[in-house]
Order: sequence, then structure tokens, then C-alpha cells
Amino acid sequence: MRILRYVRAGLLAAAVSAAMLLNACGEIPEQYAYDEEAPSLREAYADYFKVGAAINSWNLEDPESPEYKTIAKQFSVLTLENESKPENLHPEEDRYYFDKFDLFVDFCEDHDISPRGHTLLWHTQVPDWFFRDNGHDASAELVLSRIKEHVTTIVSRYKGRVKTWDVVNEVIGDDGPLRQSEWLRLVGDYDGDGDDYDYIETAFIAAHEADPDARLIINDYSLETSSSKAIRMYNAVKKMLDDGVPISGVGFQMHIGNGVDLDAMRENYRIISRLRDDYPEFVIEVTELDVNCYPWNAPPADVEVTKELLEQFSKTYTDVFTLFKELSEDGLLDSVVMWGLHDGVSWLNNGHSNYPMLITKELKLKPAFYDVIKLAE
Ligand code: XIL
Repeated sequence: MRILRYVRAGLLAAAVSAAMLLNACGEIPEQYAYDEEAPSLREAYADYFKVGAAINSWNLEDPESPEYKTIAKQFSVLTLENESKPENLHPEEDRYYFDKFDLFVDFCEDHDISPRGHTLLWHTQVPDWFFRDNGHDASAELVLSRIKEHVTTIVSRYKGRVKTWDVVNEVIGDDGPLRQSEWLRLVGDYDGDGDDYDYIETAFIAAHEADPDARLIINDYSLETSSSKAIRMYNAVKKMLDDGVPISGVGFQMHIGNGVDLDAMRENYRIISRLRDDYPEFVIEVTELDVNCYPWNAPPADVEVTKELLEQFSKTYTDVFTLFKELSEDGLLDSVVMWGLHDGVSWLNNGHSNYPMLITKELKLKPAFYDVIKLAE
């Protein structure tokens, strides 16, 4: 093991310094993410955590395509960006479409990659039939029985194969304890115990019954920047755990901006990691990392990739990977997923070209990629 680690460090150093030579004049190095000699994120971070990306099933169709080769070389965990969401998997009450998810899980197994399931419940990308009954609001009983059927069918199909599920996504409110959603409105405090977590609890219990070994995640955004939201997450999860709900961990989406306050971020991770005081097995996952080089809602324009932006961008990535290493060393974090394969396919390109990923739209490695690799040495 020690020797292997040593050899790997040597290979990494060679790959990084070759890239640095190419990069001496400040240009983006001419190395592609799928090049055999290029460094690999999954190898570099093998002693810390799995590294992954959100992809789409069409990336997995042609083994000769640059996307396919990049995925197989760079990543040890993968998420489907959209194809495993309720609207795609279960668009009608009595009809499931599993073909894309099946292909995805097969690919992962063939490449020693861990597949994540994203997401069993969400307030968006969910078909309306969940909430309706003959043109009226569905009763709480009906919504809960649909949740149970939906979760049980999907999780049991992939029992033992999909080891991690985002069971619910974005359920914590931005101001109140829970997000206002159709799930919440229709189910409410069904069991009368004074909290409104009932639809969430039903989903976690059904997932656990379908696959008792699966890791079950409650996933959300802005936990790393908003301490009040992190506290709301802590309170909700603590109450549910105390009530016996089988939640294994919190997913930090990590859709961040270019430039972070690392100390503040570390504090927010600490709020969630306090769940370990009572639940020593509790984990954190990073589920959707990307670095938006625009303020939210900025008018459409392309990012101008200046020297300052590149420097800041590398610093942002190395800052957060520094934190991930610390969390991994504390035994809290073993999976980091980025939200997209490369700049060209990021969801952040709405109306303009953004620059959020470690890989360019031509699949070239950015300077920040090499900095992140170096950090693992
Ligand atoms: C996004 C996808 O990337 C887009 O293609 C889609 O149009 C909308 O959803 N938080 C999540 C992800 O949990 O599922 C979202 O993915 C991004 C924000």
C-alpha cells in the first residue's frame, strides 16, 4: 500500500510537471482529460474520497468518444444529471422508465465506479400526478402511499447496486424550517407529533426497508454559506434521527461562487458534523460542486477568462479541496461529485458561457485541475 502510494505520487508529480511545462507561458495546457498520460482525479484522491461528476446516459453510448473515455479515466463516483429524477423515471403513476438508469448502473459496475441515485423526491422535476386525485388535491394518505410505492419500487430494483440515494432534495426552507412544496402542503403533520417532517420520514423509512445497506442522504444547497440554513438542516435531521428515521448523511450541493470564505465554510460544515456527537456513523457528501463565475441572475454575457479570474478560480477549487481533505481525514467525507462533465455542458450556461468546471468545453484540463491534483500529493 505504502509503495503503491509512493509510486502513484511519483507518477502524479511527473504528469503535473509535464503539464506545468506546457503551462509556462500562462496558457491553458494542451492536455485532454482523457489522455492516457494525463493525471486522474480518481487516482490522485484515492486515499481521501471518491471523485465524480454528474453525467448523462448519452455520454456512455460510445466507448471511443472523448466523453466516455474521460468519465472512465477521471471518476470513481457518478450521478445522472436528470435521467433519474421523478419526471423521467416515473412520469405516469403506473409507468416507470428504467432503461437509462439501468445502462448507467451497468456502466458504473463495469468501470468500478459508485453510482448515486438522484433524487427520489424533489419539489421540481416531479410529475403532477403525485399530488392530484381526479382533478382535486390528493389526500395525505394517498400522497404518502404514492411516496412509499415510488421509493420502494426504485430502491429495491437497484438493491445492493446503487449504494447511495439522495432520498429528498432541497426540502429545507430558505427562511422557515421547511420549504413550502406540494409535498409539505398535502401531507403536513400527518402523524400529529408536532412536526411537518412526515413526507420526508416516509421516504427515508421506505428506502431503508427496500435496501437496509444503502446510504440515505438529505441533500440541499447553500448549507456551506448560510449558517442559519445549516442550523435548520441540523435541527430537522437531529429531530428525525431522534425519532428513529434512518438518515445516513447530509449532502452539501456546493454550487458556489468564484471566491469563498473558507473559515466560514468550515464552520458551517462543523454545524452539520455535530450530528456525529450522537450518531457517530453520520456522514457528509459533496454532491454537486461547481464554481459559478457569474453572480446569480447576471445579464447574459460570456465569461472573460482573465488572469485574475484564473487565479481566483484555482484558489476557489484548491480552498474547497483543502477543506474536503480535512473532512476526509476526520472520517466524515468520502465522496465529492462535481455538477457536470465540462464547461460546455454545465447547467450554469443559461444564456451565456460560464467557466465553472475543472475541464474546458474542449475537454482540456484547466490550470485549476492541476492545482487540485497537486494538492492530493
Ligand atoms: C439541474 C440540471 O443540471 C439541469 O439540467 C436541469 O434543467 C435542472 O436541474 N440542484 C439539483 C440538481 O439538485 O438536480 C439540479 O440539476 C441543479 C440544482
